[in-house]
Amino acid sequence: MSEGAAKKEERRKFQAIKGTRDLLPPETALWNRVEQTAHEVFATFGFGEIRLPIFEQTELFARSIGLETDVVSKEMYTFTDGPLKRLEDIAGYIRSMVEYQSFLFVAQLFDFYVREFELGVSRGDLPEEHRSTLLEMHNILEAVQNLDARRHEGDLSTEKERVLGRIKLYVSVPRFADVLALRPEATASVCRAYIEHGMQQLPQPVKLYCIGPMFRRERPQKGRYRQFYQIDAEVLGGTDAPAIDAEVIEMVMTFFDRLGLEGVQLHINSIGDRNCRPKYVELLRAELSKVKDKLGADSQRRIETNPLRVLDSKVKEEQSIIEKLPRIGDHLCQDCATHYAAVKHELGLRGVKYQENWRLVRGLDYYSRTTFEITAKGLGSQNAVCGGGRYDGLVELLGGPPTKGIGFAIGEDRLILSLLETGHSPLATCHSPLLYIAWMGEKAYATAIRAAKNLRNAGFRVELPPVEQKFSKALGQADKLGARFALILGDNEVSSGQWTLKTLADGKQEKLRESDLVEHLKKQL
Ligand code: HAM
Repeated sequence: MSEGAAKKEERRKFQAIKGTRDLLPPETALWNRVEQTAHEVFATFGFGEIRLPIFEQTELFARSIGLETDVVSKEMYTFTDGPLKRLEDIAGYIRSMVEYQSFLFVAQLFDFYVREFELGVSRGDLPEEHRSTLLEMHNILEAVQNLDARRHEGDLSTEKERVLGRIKLYVSVPRFADVLALRPEATASVCRAYIEHGMQQLPQPVKLYCIGPMFRRERPQKGRYRQFYQIDAEVLGGTDAPAIDAEVIEMVMTFFDRLGLEGVQLHINSIGDRNCRPKYVELLRAELSKVKDKLGADSQRRIETNPLRVLDSKVKEEQSIIEKLPRIGDHLCQDCATHYAAVKHELGLRGVKYQENWRLVRGLDYYSRTTFEITAKGLGSQNAVCGGGRYDGLVELLGGPPTKGIGFAIGEDRLILSLLETGHSPLATCHSPLLYIAWMGEKAYATAIRAAKNLRNAGFRVELPPVEQKFSKALGQADKLGARFALILGDNEVSSGQWTLKTLADGKQEKLRESDLVEHLKKQL
């Protein structure tokens, strides 16, 4: 790099990473109001707040959400951690390349792996007993060299396969470092915490909620970010009574109502359980195979990996085909059908309006029975402001006892966007000071500090300029900041004990004693 280029690089301005953003005042006041309302509404339904780590073992998400889902297969921010991070990274490369890269390329990577392994042993990061593993791996490298020396001898593919098989054995699973991921959602972590803290011993069900950032490597657009925020609520344990499904939905609808969210529409569905869904999926796969040629590449692939996801397709040409496919509602087992009917009845009892949508299958694997999504006004194509459903087998899948579960996550960014687009003020004035203290002179400064302290203790927003300035300049500044009052403190005010309070909108001035100021201001609000 030339000196000039290096200097330029040094002066480079930093920007927020693509798909992340700064949330600034006054908008943050709206975020706070939304979160405060969540704390209040959720508490009235008996939910307690849980705060979770932002990263967990990748395996927790892979197992919960499903390997074939977009979230796990494409969108997770994953990294290795620990002193043997490099070793594990090389193992990861080998795993991902062993099937389609040349023998020599993989062997070369394995050579790096062995060298890194050797370093680990010599540094003491790997226990001494691994010296024997090292010997075995050196044998493999020797076999690679032998094969290379014999490369003109004709077909060596069987021998190469054998060597590759031996290499794979050593790198098949992450063993020496933690493989971690920034959380793409919270449900898996809540279940992990439920198990880890033995919450099945508490009175059931356990109702938990959390608020915080999630991370998915999606293509950013309006309402879709790589770091986004969710307000997540989960009910774990106890029964799968349909009243629980309905109450969880009632809670989120109450919350939206309290915020004045507009155009709220609740879409519900039941996707069956492990008894009836597999049969329906097979039927769907068979039907999709018949029309495969008319589907796009994504849907074609999903016929094999996850046919339910085809129902999610937004591709215009596929819509008329999808409409003719068999519907899960007609293939639910008796228990699931009864449960679904009861959920709808319970929603009715609570006055919650809903639309049924048989194509609502959700993008995560852990769901069974009730699924739902809520859309709102002003959001464009990313209009789901909340998604959720029942996940009765998930805690068990993560090594816990059989446990019922249902919950939802609200996309807080989208919620705020919808509120802003429909004219909800970000409370712009909320951050303006109520009162600006214009002071001049040393004595006045001490009085101003005292006044600021007392007024702030009484809960008023006060701006105290850090340096002396002429009254005219101070009043101009107060105006610019949008203050309602200026408290003028000069020598006269300090010696007479009569302070001047100016209302900036009309220029009215009043004389007040220090002891009367707080009460006087309270009356003005
Ligand atoms: P989800 O549908 O993946 O469900 O996400 C829930 C909500 O998070 C979405 O409806 C959307 O509002 C918001 N969201 C998702 N991805 C993004 C993004 N890239 N940018 C902005 N907002 C986004 C879950 O996460 C489940 N864990 C919900 C759940 C809880 N199910 C049961 N319990």
